[in-house]
Amino acid sequence: MEPISCIEYSLISRFFKERNDLFTLLFQDEYSIPSEILDRQTIVELQEANLIYLDESTNNLKALVKINHTNGIFLCTDFITQTNNRVFPFVDEGNIFIEYFSNVRKHLKSRVKISAWDMCTGSGHPLILMEQELKKISTNVNVIGTDINERAIDYCRTNIALNNSRTEVLLSHFDVNINNSVSFDYIWSNPPFALSPQQDSLHTYGGRYGLERTIDVIRIINKRLDKNGMAQVLTYSIGNNKTDLLVSRFLEQELSNFRYEINILSGEKIWRFDGKKRCINPMPIEYMALRSTDQLYNLNQVPKESWLALSTEIKQKGYSHLYFVLIDILPL
Ligand SMILES: C[S@@+](CC[C@H](N)C(=O)[O-])C[C@H]1O[C@@H](n2cnc3c(N)ncnc32)[C@H](O)[C@@H]1O
Repeated sequence: MEPISCIEYSLISRFFKERNDLFTLLFQDEYSIPSEILDRQTIVELQEANLIYLDESTNNLKALVKINHTNGIFLCTDFITQTNNRVFPFVDEGNIFIEYFSNVRKHLKSRVKISAWDMCTGSGHPLILMEQELKKISTNVNVIGTDINERAIDYCRTNIALNNSRTEVLLSHFDVNINNSVSFDYIWSNPPFALSPQQDSLHTYGGRYGLERTIDVIRIINKRLDKNGMAQVLTYSIGNNKTDLLVSRFLEQELSNFRYEINILSGEKIWRFDGKKRCINPMPIEYMALRSTDQLYNLNQVPKESWLALSTEIKQKGYSHLYFVLIDILPL
């Protein structure tokens, strides 16, 4: 999609404030809206901004893009119903950054300059929020986001322009396109971490036990984080209790320069079948088989038996639950 200009920010925010009900129906719930119930001028403006189209056979309006509103910013993404090559659908994972930012604020406060990296940024959530929060700590802030998916990068550019952000974005397999000499004071990463019987999606698949991309990210953090910096990684780990998580083994092995703390996220945050929060954390490992019945996530139609077999395999390895965790990585 074409980058959106600041003029459209005022259009979107005005429509959001004045017609919140219609905004939600059109841009979040993907409803068709009878064009007769929206004033002519707004229709023209939204059409000119390439945000809606008029279906002339029914005279109904439909959105061309999903627009999420969170923490004062607007984020455009694909609708979850776009099953062909969609980018990571908007969920509230990016807001966990805000919920746990107090640790970062404590660690980075009183720095003259902060350089930060959102590794695997998708459409720019929480990249854009990160810039806003870091600017409250320091006047000299540089924030970059990277992702391997070109469509995600396009959305990210759109969202940066839409929110008048000064963050940068770069297409890159992890840190490959970042100059070797560059290090960061703060790194956030929410890599693909879903465990699955087979490679099912670029933005969620973390390998059979869910940790392959997370291990890549831990290695890169060990190399790219400034020795006095801080990083946070949002991921899943199979485990039995807080002190017996598979991810801890890799943290011990890979983090030669830093220590770590694991936060087990509380509340109903785990496993989204439809982009909403539902299940408990940790959840029994066999719950992964629920994924088989989810048409919007089980895009390759992996059969139920394969999910159940994987959960049995994991239990035989001695792990009973799946934990949703935020790992803080800190100087020794
Ligand atoms: C779980 S999504 C997180 C997106 C975003 N942070 C959010 O909360 O909306 C993971 C992202 O990692 C990206 N990704 C997958 N493999 C990657 C790789 N090797 N290098 C960089 N990004 C990658 C995917 O394209 C996807 O956008």
